[in-house]
Amino acid sequence: MPDLQRNVKIETAEFARASAKPEDLIDDGTPQVAFVGRSNVGKSSLLNRLAGQTIARTSSTPGRTRTVNWFRIDRRWWLVDLPGYGFAKASKTDRKAWGEVVDAYLANSSGRLLVVQLVDAKVGATELDVGAAEWLRSLDRPAVVVATKVDRLKRGERARALERIRRALGLDHEADLLAVSADTGEGVRELWQRIEEFLAAG
Ligand code: GTP
Ligand code: MG
Repeated sequence: MPDLQRNVKIETAEFARASAKPEDLIDDGTPQVAFVGRSNVGKSSLLNRLAGQTIARTSSTPGRTRTVNWFRIDRRWWLVDLPGYGFAKASKTDRKAWGEVVDAYLANSSGRLLVVQLVDAKVGATELDVGAAEWLRSLDRPAVVVATKVDRLKRGERARALERIRRALGLDHEADLLAVSADTGEGVRELWQRIEEFLAAG
């Protein structure tokens, strides 16, 4: 994939670490923005789009990202790419290990953390997405839900698809739900705005 046009909002984006176990997680007190969602929902692609360059590996085969991957942005905050949940082909042991490191990260990270939960706009919220949303809510962290790959929906289908996701996840009308496409860049500006608000809130 060719490098996407550089995002003017970011000066430097550097891969820093891949954590496979809770002991390797980074908890340095600077803000973090983490992407959570089903395997193949488009986490790494959206992260690349936000960063304006291809820093995270993507794949049409689910299960591409298998560690918690840390990207240092402007030497000031972290973009964090997580392994997806619900990857059917993974062995039970693998699934347990990934689950553990992701759970440990989201539950225990002591610094400021914005959780971005991704849901496929066309597939809608699956049972796993609903379960993840409930668990995330119990953590009581700032969160935003993003419907991905909206380029796959016709204009006329979007509002209904978003409303279904809202209902399935129990989001009220105040809650953030953004529609984005890593392919076309649609909605990325709005997601940026949300991230900037979070970073500015200090
Ligand atoms: P795991 O690392 O396996 O958890 O997956 P992921 O959530 O990181 O997904 P990834 O970004 O690797 O993308 C999965 C597939 O979806 C790839 O084939 C991407 O090209 C495709 N994809 C991602 N974003 C979009 C999008 O906005 N629109 C369309 N049409 N396809 C997308
Ligand atoms: Mg990935």
